[in-house]
Amino acid sequence: MRTWCRERQRDSQTVGFVPTMGALHEGHLSLVRQAKAQCDVCVVSVFVNPTQFAANEDLSRYPRPLERDLQLIANEGADAVFLPNNGIMYPPGFGSFILPPPVALPLEGQSRPEHFRGVTTVVMKLLQIIPADAAFFGQKDFQQLRVIEDMVRDLNIPTEIVSCQIVRDDDGLALSSRNRYLSDEQRQAALSLFRALGRAEAMVAAGERDTQSIEKAMTETLAVCDSIDYAVVAEVDSLQPMRTLQRPAVALVAARVGNTRLIDNRIL
Ligand code: PAJ
Repeated sequence: MRTWCRERQRDSQTVGFVPTMGALHEGHLSLVRQAKAQCDVCVVSVFVNPTQFAANEDLSRYPRPLERDLQLIANEGADAVFLPNNGIMYPPGFGSFILPPPVALPLEGQSRPEHFRGVTTVVMKLLQIIPADAAFFGQKDFQQLRVIEDMVRDLNIPTEIVSCQIVRDDDGLALSSRNRYLSDEQRQAALSLFRALGRAEAMVAAGERDTQSIEKAMTETLAVCDSIDYAVVAEVDSLQPMRTLQRPAVALVAARVGNTRLIDNRIL
């Protein structure tokens, strides 16, 4: 894979890279399109990374529609797919992990303590295997994007991180591989994440600057979910809470509907 990249780069072609865990949807495909638009060749990886799932999480039931994924990737005109297995990524004796930067500590870091250690480690490994000129990440996982940006800066990784917009269904629900777990009724409850963010945005547009009021309104809107992990307004760079809204800020929500954990966010 590395030789393939280096050969393209020796021919003065730029390599774009889109890491995924498969079960691809329009959100993933929008990253592939952006990579194709910005780079000469495009590589997509499909790997359900076990180190970013806790023991109680959905690793074993994470969807793996491989044939369909490969077809979708081919339809977008990607040039290569990297499809490693656990034995290739984590052979016996594997034991080195990346310590994630401080931006990994709040929010998801509180709800899923080991998660970002797995993400930074696998993305670091992928960027060593695929030394791309640019790698494309979705704002859907806003904290993940911020964690990767800081890791790449801190560890001098010579790949540009490109931040891509959230793709939503017509009703506003952010596309996610996990949406397929939702029943029709649960999907209605899941829409409360989008509604909560809309409410936050409307309050800010109306002049509200007290983040506690905004967070309270978001929490109320999320009450139809089975549990709420967080509904906060945070500073965009550090993801630390802020008491009075000062731009740039981001509203972030995480909640559970049935057994499905959903996240969404919006820049305010
Ligand atoms: P995965 O959840 O498959 O997502 C792969 C990429 O697609 C991520 O950058 C994610 O932010 C982006 N994405 C997902 N849904 C999106 C949407 N609705 N709109 C825009 N982009 C969207 O994120 C991971 O995999 C893994 O943690 C990974 C980075 C591959 C490391 O294992």
